[in-house]
Parts: sequence; C-alpha cells; structure tokens
Amino acid sequence: MHKQPIFFLGFGGVGRALLKQILDARELHRSRNGLKLDVLGIADSAGALVSEKPLTDAALRKALQTKIDTGRLPDKAATNANLRTTIAALPKNAIIVDTSASAAAVPALIQAKRRGCGVVLANKIPLAGDLAWWDAIADERARWETTCGSAMPVISTLTTLLDSGDAVHRIEGTLSGTLGYVCSQLEAGVKFGDAVRDAKMRGYTEPDPRQDLGGLDVARKALILARMLGYRLEMKNVKVESLYPKLMDKLSVEDFMRDVDSLNGPMAERVAELTTDGHKLRYAAVIENGKLKAGFVGADPNSKLGLSRTSDSVVVFHTRYFTDNPLTISGRGAGQEVTASGVLGDVVNLSRSMAG
Ligand SMILES: NC(=O)c1ccc[n+]([C@@H]2O[C@H](COP(=O)([O-])OP(=O)(O)OC[C@H]3O[C@@H](n4cnc5c(N)ncnc54)[C@H](OP(=O)(O)O)[C@@H]3O)[C@@H](O)[C@H]2O)c1
Repeated sequence: MHKQPIFFLGFGGVGRALLKQILDARELHRSRNGLKLDVLGIADSAGALVSEKPLTDAALRKALQTKIDTGRLPDKAATNANLRTTIAALPKNAIIVDTSASAAAVPALIQAKRRGCGVVLANKIPLAGDLAWWDAIADERARWETTCGSAMPVISTLTTLLDSGDAVHRIEGTLSGTLGYVCSQLEAGVKFGDAVRDAKMRGYTEPDPRQDLGGLDVARKALILARMLGYRLEMKNVKVESLYPKLMDKLSVEDFMRDVDSLNGPMAERVAELTTDGHKLRYAAVIENGKLKAGFVGADPNSKLGLSRTSDSVVVFHTRYFTDNPLTISGRGAGQEVTASGVLGDVVNLSRSMAG
C-alpha cells in the first residue's frame, strides 16, 4: 500500500467536495490503486488544521461538518501567518492540493516544489500569474487538469497532442458557464440587464457578476493553454473583451446591478452584428499564432462551437492531424463536485507518477 501525504490549501466548495470524495473512495483506492491518501492538514483563509500524523477519517469528517456549520476549521492551532512554515515542514513526497482562489500561497507552493513536493491545482492564479511562477510550478510534479474546463480532459489532451509531436495551430474554447448562459439569453433576444440579473438570481455568477462579465477568468484559461504551447506570454498580452465598461468597476454591486440596463442598447447592437447570417453568439478563448483573445465571437452555425449547446463548455483543437474535423472536447465545464473529481484524478495520477 502506497501512503501518499496530501495537504489541502483551500477548503471551500471544491476542497470540501474533494475531501468527501477521498473519504468515500477509500476502498476503491485501496483495491484499484493500492493507495491511501493521508491528509496531513487543511488550510483555509483564516487558519489551518495541521497534524504530523495523518488526520483520522473521524477528524476529517469533523472538520468537514464544522466548516459547513461554522465556516471555520475546528482547530485554530495554526494561522495562515505560518502557512509557509507549515508547508515547509511537509514531507518531501507530499502533494499540496490548491483549491484556493488566491495568490497568497504561491510563495509557499514554490518553496514546496523546490523541496520536491508535488502540486495539484484547481486554482488558476498560480499558473496565470507571473511567468516566473509558471516556470517554478508547471513541471512533471504538477497537475492542473481542472483549471481549464473543470474535469473535462482538456489539459491532458493538449499534453498528449504536444507529446505526440502534433502541431497545434489553433485552440478555441467556450470556457465560462456563466458567459455561455448570458450568450444563450442574448441570442434569444433577452436584454443584457435582464440576462445578467437572471444569471445572478440563479446563482450562475459570482456574488459580484463583474468577475464573470469582465472575461478575466476565460483570459486566465487562455493564458494557461498558450503557455503549455510554449508561448512566453503574460496576462497583458491577452486581448480581453469585457462585457461592461471599466468605468463601472468603481460602482458597488448594487449600483452596478441597477445601472446594468444602460448597456442594453450597445450590447444589442454588438449581438446583432455578430449573429448575422445565422451565426451563433459565443464568448470564447481563441489562441492562434501566439495571439490570445477572450471575447465574443460569431461562430459559424456548422462549426463545433456553433453546433454546441451554450450550457456546455467546448474546447476545439485544430492541429496538423485534426484538420477538417478538429478534435473537440465538450461537457460540463464547471461545478464543485465535478471539479473535485478532476482534482482527485490528478492527485491519484501524480501520486502514481511521483512514486515512480
Ligand atoms: N467551482 C468550480 O466550478 C470550479 C471549476 C474549476 C476550477 N475552480 C477553481 O477552484 C478553486 C476553488 O473554487 P471553489 O468554488 O471551491 O471556491 P470557494 O468556495 O470560494 O473556496 C475557496 C477556498 O479558498 C480558501 N482560501 C482563500 N484564500 C486562502 C489562502 N490565502 N490560504 C488558504 N486558503 C485560502 C477559502 O477560505 P475560506 O473558506 O476561509 O473563505 C476557501 O476555503 C478556485 O480557484 C476556482 O477558480 C472552480
């Protein structure tokens, strides 16, 4: 039995779903993989629960319940002030699983990598930040499948294409469930303000919808894919189309939601322009010839993007060998449970690889 030490960085929706899936898969991991995942600690934004010996399943279930009930971890033995020390003290073969949504732990991640630890990321920020972070993190001891399209095998497919020597000419992907929903509403003639309010009411957006509408999340995904292709680019190289003007950044969420109707007219014009001749409205990341874009496209109705349902995430790889029928991956590209399953797959895969 291989005992794999792991440390949770982040204990929100994805982190908690991951822990639950690990506990539920104990028997499967034992029989199928000869593996036991030993959780040595969990950190959230306020504190950390840390143990030199693996936390028992009872202690882990208690941590899950306490976090759900109180929003906090059960033990305040450590704070995030000493997160760096905590991570530095992990065994060299540990895997740190970053399901936070922050850059705060990047120095600790890099330090751990340098000591030989592995890293699994659902958090895009460490890979879409400074190129120096990318260089320090994105190697054979790191996995980041869920950063572009949740558990859909986008990263592993691109890795295989690159390993095989295929030449990837163009990648296009609809990688935001929220923007997919907004596109479907706009295409159906719903006014922009109503579409945003509806998406927020349904819980499809972040509490501040501008975080989705600004396109930054899609731009980060595009940057990660481009860096995998070998382009040494930074976020400033991504041409990002925001669905609201920058001036509205200084409004409170309430004021933004009140004023969003002022964008109805210009948005209707933009949509009409993109959807002439039956073209379909999509918000996509496009990577081609070292140029990166995140923004609206009018997709040919017979293309893979045009034929897709707006509720699905779709990534299309146009390559030397996939020409007239490009390689396409589509499915559910968001959701905490499905993302956690992708993270768990990465943990098992990396553990196997690190164990040699
Ligand atoms: N949800 C999805 O469908 C999806 C899909 C693909 C990728 N992702 C990525 O997965 C990550 C987690 O998503 P989520 O939905 O679980 O978000 P979430 O519920 O907001 O959870 C984020 C977690 O990160 C913790 N955190 C924040 N700053 C931290 C720090 N400095 N040190 C340690 N922990 C810190 C938060 O702590 P508190 O609990 O104390 O606030 C929280 O536990 C994000 O990066 C997201 O972009 C999500």
